Amino acid sequence: MSENSPSPSDPRRIVVGITGASGAAYAVRVIQLLAAGGVEVHLACSDLGRRLLVEEMGITRVDPEQLAPGHADRIVTHPGNDVGAACASGSFRHDGMVVVPCSSSSLAKISLGITDNLVQRAALVTLKERRPLVLAHRESPVGLPEIEAMRRVTEAGGIVAPLSPGLYLNPDSIEDLIDFMAGRILDLLGVSHDLRIRWDERLRERDKRS
Ligand SMILES: Cc1cc2nc3c(=O)[nH]c(=O)nc-3n(C[C@H](O)[C@H](O)[C@H](O)COP(=O)(O)O)c2cc1C
Repeated sequence: MSENSPSPSDPRRIVVGITGASGAAYAVRVIQLLAAGGVEVHLACSDLGRRLLVEEMGITRVDPEQLAPGHADRIVTHPGNDVGAACASGSFRHDGMVVVPCSSSSLAKISLGITDNLVQRAALVTLKERRPLVLAHRESPVGLPEIEAMRRVTEAGGIVAPLSPGLYLNPDSIEDLIDFMAGRILDLLGVSHDLRIRWDERLRERDKRS
């Protein structure tokens, strides 16, 4: 087993929310990595999240087989407006939630405890149950409303992780940039992975070559 392979203590069930910010590809990659790593994924998509999946990825149905071919059996989809779904309840046991990409609108609503849809409701419940919550926010620049919302979420125990991939690993492609953020999100959720995103590994490779 390599250093980053899934370990028995890894999370087994993660909730993923997709909202209407640019960056649907990050969501798809996170879902694929989780499912391929044996994690049960509970997926909720806002109305605008679904629109961005179509516009940016050509994904017209929130269909597990389309999202993660070969691992569809690990993905449970929930209607985005069903605030009565299992993952809307604190009694639903899971190991954490990520909203990716997270729009400024969802960020603000979650930070204020407003739950107009399942993504927001599941995120708020994750906070109140003191489980890991990662909001992978996408907007630039940000103004005081977003900054205040980030502060509130952070004070409530959530993690705001802007979709802002580092360039220090000399990415060759958009896929490398997406993997950088997907890997960081998995790190924050405590899920092991083998993506080559670590600065120390790069230093070791460089030392070996010199
Ligand atoms: C094509 C498109 C791209 C968008 N990109 C962003 C974005 O990157 N960040 C953001 O905060 N909002 C973005 N929006 C606006 C949100 O979709 C809008 O605020 C929406 O109400 C968010 O709802 P939701 O958070 O429930 O998905 C975009 C909208 C569209 C149509």
